[in-house]
Amino acid sequence: MRHTAVLNTDIEQGKINKNIYGHFAEHLGRCIYEGIWVGEDSSIPNTNGIRTDVLEALQKIRVPVLRWPGGCFADEYHWKDGIGPKENRKRMVNTHWGGVVENNHFGTHEFMMLCEMLGCEPYICGNVGSGTVQEMSEWIEYMTFKGESPMADWRRENGRDEPWKLKYFGVGNENWGCGGNMRPEYYSDLYRRYQTYVRNYDGNQIYKIAGGANIDDYNWTEVLMRESARFMDGLSLHYYTIPGEFWTGKGAATGFSEDEWAVTMQKAYRMDELLTKHSTIMDKYDPEKKVAIIVDEWGTWFDVEPGTNPGFLYQQNTIRDALVAAIHFHIFHNHHERVQMANIAQTVNVLQAMILTEGSNMIVTPTYHVFDLFKVHQDAVKLTLETTAEEYKSMPQVSLSASKNAEGTVNISCCNIDHENEAEITVDLRGINTESLFVAGTILTAEQMDAHNTFDQPDRVQPASFSNFSLSGTSLNVTMPPISIVVLELKKNE
Ligand code: AHR
Repeated sequence: MRHTAVLNTDIEQGKINKNIYGHFAEHLGRCIYEGIWVGEDSSIPNTNGIRTDVLEALQKIRVPVLRWPGGCFADEYHWKDGIGPKENRKRMVNTHWGGVVENNHFGTHEFMMLCEMLGCEPYICGNVGSGTVQEMSEWIEYMTFKGESPMADWRRENGRDEPWKLKYFGVGNENWGCGGNMRPEYYSDLYRRYQTYVRNYDGNQIYKIAGGANIDDYNWTEVLMRESARFMDGLSLHYYTIPGEFWTGKGAATGFSEDEWAVTMQKAYRMDELLTKHSTIMDKYDPEKKVAIIVDEWGTWFDVEPGTNPGFLYQQNTIRDALVAAIHFHIFHNHHERVQMANIAQTVNVLQAMILTEGSNMIVTPTYHVFDLFKVHQDAVKLTLETTAEEYKSMPQVSLSASKNAEGTVNISCCNIDHENEAEITVDLRGINTESLFVAGTILTAEQMDAHNTFDQPDRVQPASFSNFSLSGTSLNVTMPPISIVVLELKKNE
């Protein structure tokens, strides 16, 4: 099918916050333990207990922000269990996720160390559901207070002299569900109370994020904005792409039908409608867009891999997941004024993971490659790009987004969600001298809808150089194969 687009490279729409390329790591299944943390004594090569292979892979995609410790786990987590000598740390039961023993070996110090190694901002989610105001307030004091105080002294005893810089703090998680089954009116009052004691010490300025709505619970957003907007910097939103039904069968991660492929794409596109509607409500109370939408959980959610612990949420990751990720990023770009952070669920071995591990082996997924290819958009300026797209099963067959970085390089990312047809796209390039333009392309594609990487075939789905485009005058003509993602870099020739 043929499509046209007009790209105005000189009409800038605003910054794409790099934090929309953020991640989320919960104490769930094999995400933290095995996936990230193996401990200093492990035979798996590690750096201070963090798996070196995973660390290096995550460094490559420039993780801007990492959310921890949950998720539902956050509202059962008591941070004091996870500090001090490891042999003394409390062993508890992770009741929400598989009923396994949590030895608390990965706690505040280990998480902050991981963020330092990744060069990313920590985003900590506090416990409202089963924790006290005092506990939350003391956690902030422990992490960020510089002088003499009970918590700061304790931190120093545990080996960390300087306070950490902590920017992002979430006051509870899914408090309409696993975080306490609250009504929005009740949570809103609790939010106001808890956040009062999330203090800014010694120049550390905390960006406070309130627990937001599930999917299309617009009443939750209405109440939170009406009652508490002035106490928050961000309001979260959770939406997962599930082709089937949450409780009765979500659908398989591999071996799915063409219909399931199309439904998955439709459900991914739904993020746009949700952001539009939640934003409209927020505009009523906050027309200046001071309160951001923080999409701190998103991604595909399928049935677990057969034979794995149902509480561990381990699923394979295919080229379909890659397209779901790319579509989400384009939607986040379009909502760049309101959406200031997004955290895919989850980093390793859980849901739409970047990385899968098996013992000492590690593979990266098609989704990982999208984060790698799209990192060019991090903190770049969004450009005006109008696309006239033909339809594939009542959805636009292609989705395009463009940005310009500080050096003036323009990057265009394109998705073709059609599982059997090519897409021919003509982009009219405006505001740029095309005579002195150098264009380079990279593609992520596969011949099968459920192509994925395995420990035996780790590179089945991986980026390759792409040259199926031509520049003629101001027209950039691109032919994309079915099931593909292309990133084109437009650089001025020196
Ligand atoms: O990401 C898995 C779970 O999904 C999180 O713990 C919870 O917040 C959400 O329901």
